[in-house]
Amino acid sequence: MKIRPLLLLLAASLLPLASTAQEKVVNIYSSRHYQTDEALYSGFTKRTGIKVNRIEAGEDALIQRIRNEGARSPGDVLITVDAGRLWRAEELGLFQPVRSAVLESRIPQAFREPDGQWFGFSMRARLLAYNKARVRADELRRYEDLADAKWKGRICARSSTNIYNLSLMGALIDRLGEAKAQSWANAVRANLAREPKGGDTDQLKAVAAGECDVAISNHYYYARLARSQKPDDRAVAEKLGVVLPGLAGSGTHVNISGAGVLKHAPNRDAAIRFLEYLSSDEAQRYFADGNNEWPVVPSARVTNPVLSALGEFQYDPINVAVLGRNQPLAQKIFDRAGWK
Ligand SMILES: [Fe+2]
Repeated sequence: MKIRPLLLLLAASLLPLASTAQEKVVNIYSSRHYQTDEALYSGFTKRTGIKVNRIEAGEDALIQRIRNEGARSPGDVLITVDAGRLWRAEELGLFQPVRSAVLESRIPQAFREPDGQWFGFSMRARLLAYNKARVRADELRRYEDLADAKWKGRICARSSTNIYNLSLMGALIDRLGEAKAQSWANAVRANLAREPKGGDTDQLKAVAAGECDVAISNHYYYARLARSQKPDDRAVAEKLGVVLPGLAGSGTHVNISGAGVLKHAPNRDAAIRFLEYLSSDEAQRYFADGNNEWPVVPSARVTNPVLSALGEFQYDPINVAVLGRNQPLAQKIFDRAGWK
């Protein structure tokens, strides 16, 4: 007689679990926070019938959460920005490798981790923005040009601990070697107009305000100002010229926004289908255009006036996983240069 209530209780607690297991879902942890990502999730559900649950939080908080949850994590997919961050999650053992003919044929090799731990879905470029009243475009053809003494006291840059700068340094190390990458960091550090502070947008505003003549920024921060509803933002963009510079005879340093399937994904098949959906032409447009980025899939097209104005360009085809691997050395080089 005493057992009965316990059994009832067990049955009651099992019921909702059983029905949940039958419902097709995918649980997505995302540090992207763009309105347009809504279209991605509803588009996926419309095509597959798989419901999307998502948890949005900052990068570090999400990674910490996944680590804490361990093998019991309900997370299936982690979406984040920058190959450096995806590499960090990979180093912590958060992903599992995925083989998918769809992903491997749609996404160029440079934009995915060679073992399938994570995949890039949109592309961002690290550009140089200059004050049109004081600088000519042909003075800035390559990132290496920033090391020239003529830029003394004229460059604005953010902190070296920032992932975008670490990934840029990761590319410089790969293309130039450690010694030349160190010389570059020392010289650019010596050319800074002020101690590194603020985000990329702050560097662009400082150039427009005349505090410095050149800044390093991801392209979409410039695009955001140029497309802004606020006249003040557009006035900043109008003062700027932008260059997509070369690197050591190769193209512009680019990075990705990307995602991987989590190691303990309870809905692994749905997770892979979600990544495959992200590589579809439809999703590529939403995914990239949500942050004024370029799709990684060549057949996908965005109609975005600022991206069109930036034009076609050559990008450095280095595999983005290399940028991650070079992160520790990149930070060492910046530290040795005294670039805070
Ligand atoms: Fe950003």
